[in-house]
Amino acid sequence: MIKKCLFPAAGYGTRFLPATKAMPKEMLPVLTRPLIEYGVEEAVEAGLNTMAIVTGRGKRAIEDHFDISYELEHQIKGTTKEPLLTQIRKLINKCTFSYTRQVEMKGLGHAILSGETLIGNEPFAVILADDLCDADSHNEGVLSQMIKLYSKYKCSIVAIEEVPKEDTNKYGVIDGEQIADGVYMIKNMVEKPNPEDAPSNMAIIGRYILTPDIFDIIRETKPGKGGEIQITDALMTQAQNGMVLAYKFKGKRFDCGSVDGFVEATNYFYKKGSK
Ligand code: UTP
Repeated sequence: MIKKCLFPAAGYGTRFLPATKAMPKEMLPVLTRPLIEYGVEEAVEAGLNTMAIVTGRGKRAIEDHFDISYELEHQIKGTTKEPLLTQIRKLINKCTFSYTRQVEMKGLGHAILSGETLIGNEPFAVILADDLCDADSHNEGVLSQMIKLYSKYKCSIVAIEEVPKEDTNKYGVIDGEQIADGVYMIKNMVEKPNPEDAPSNMAIIGRYILTPDIFDIIRETKPGKGGEIQITDALMTQAQNGMVLAYKFKGKRFDCGSVDGFVEATNYFYKKGSK
């Protein structure tokens, strides 16, 4: 079964400059917890215990976050502040973290390929931490729902959401045939199409289950939109060779890579009473 979760976290985060000049985008906090911690929580909830993180220059704060801070913990031991670290301590104890660096930022597909050394020859999950997901009124997280689907179909799966047609140029967009409730067999997928060229308004968001043959396919994938190696292009090849599914997940998703989405997420979690 799937045990590993890859977090591509090497992007520059230019939409958040200057905040991301010296701080990783994945460490921006929604309330008191950085984005990537929400992602790791979601992976753990889905039964995964091995976190593989693709970082880049200037991202060392991520490694420090998922480690013990002896000095700090000594300082607050026995005070009212001590419980503030309980949740992250539990998370650290539940899983292992390994890291590799993407040396040149050549796109999401390339970042995933950089993680091959940490994943090996097994199916794995991918979380883009800047897409923050919440189960909302449903009782399981998005990744957990996708893992269940994987155990039935045993193929790559992307999470999708309907977006306003004018926003298709921000996403990979799919066209597919519905084979079960919320499950589509992908026939076509296009990276960031203009609304008039988009095959639908069903956009891929930052949750994937990938089978390991994707690595060889990415290696053969030429740079696409924006000169980057696109995971969408590699998945299209995989769909043509076999089967890739799209899953309309239950729950909420916030695009925390954009300022608007980030503010929305902050308000949502604040109202929900999260810490
Ligand atoms: P984005 O498209 O959000 O790019 O990447 P970005 O660089 O993070 O942010 P902006 O657009 O400049 O503001 C989607 C995800 O893919 C990762 C990012 O870290 C993010 O999680 N990524 C992207 C990489 O790891 N490497 C890359 O070369 C590109």
